[in-house]
Amino acid sequence: MWKRLFNTTKGNDSQTDKDIFSHLEPDKLPAHVAIIMDGNGRWAKGQGLVRTAGHRAGVSTLKQIVKSCSDLNIEALTVYAFSTENWKRPPAEVEFLMALFSEFMDKEIEEMVRDNVCLRFIGRINELSKVLQDKIANAVERTRSNTGVKFTIAVNYGGKDELIRAIQTISSKVSGGELDAASIDDSIVDSHLDTAGLPPVDFVIRTSGDIRLSNFLLWQTAYAEFWFTSTNWPDFTPECFAEALYDFSQRERRFGGLKEKK
Ligand code: FPP
Repeated sequence: MWKRLFNTTKGNDSQTDKDIFSHLEPDKLPAHVAIIMDGNGRWAKGQGLVRTAGHRAGVSTLKQIVKSCSDLNIEALTVYAFSTENWKRPPAEVEFLMALFSEFMDKEIEEMVRDNVCLRFIGRINELSKVLQDKIANAVERTRSNTGVKFTIAVNYGGKDELIRAIQTISSKVSGGELDAASIDDSIVDSHLDTAGLPPVDFVIRTSGDIRLSNFLLWQTAYAEFWFTSTNWPDFTPECFAEALYDFSQRERRFGGLKEKK
């Protein structure tokens, strides 16, 4: 049905992407898309490859989706690359992922600068290796004034951990007399989260079939819409993204209110 609706074939060149996206109404797109890039390991297994090959393939997918967000003028894209729980994985896999993030910074920074992508990171970045922290700081600095898509990578990130850190900062401001407890509201909490300055998440996409949030952006997704697909992340093409966005554009969001009478 999707193929008929969009009358297109899979492809990565920008002309094809334009065709796919031409059916989407710009004012019905999410301002902030969050993606749980799951299924790299399963994809690799299906191809007879080692798990790490799946993560590498996942980087190619990620690059295409960042480009799609730029083409569609989506304000913000946040992706879950490594959770506070992912340290439990075998050391070799953790090491590979850290090396992949480092390589990504080396290889992709020039293109991100040129493509007007504003890169940022959320999570306990200060617990990563010094080399990786320096590369992250450099990449963030070099893209800081870019005005295109705000592309945020969550590394060593957990939603509960982010909330705990925000609560700790807020409570020390209260005990220091800098903040009145009664004045704490949504915007104060927002401004103490790692995602400060980003719009609330409108749309969460999770690939590879699991239907859960896995400690991702717990506060920010309060009124988000969700899209779950069985497609593994390395197979998630711009066409898959367009399908998800089309579905989002057809939804009625009430934010706890009532449907508007016509
Ligand atoms: C989950 O799939 C994926 C991860 C824990 C890592 C995600 C990382 C990438 C896609 C690379 C991103 C790279 C950069 C530079 C940001 P899984 O391994 O849990 O897959 P499985 O559930 O099939 O085992």
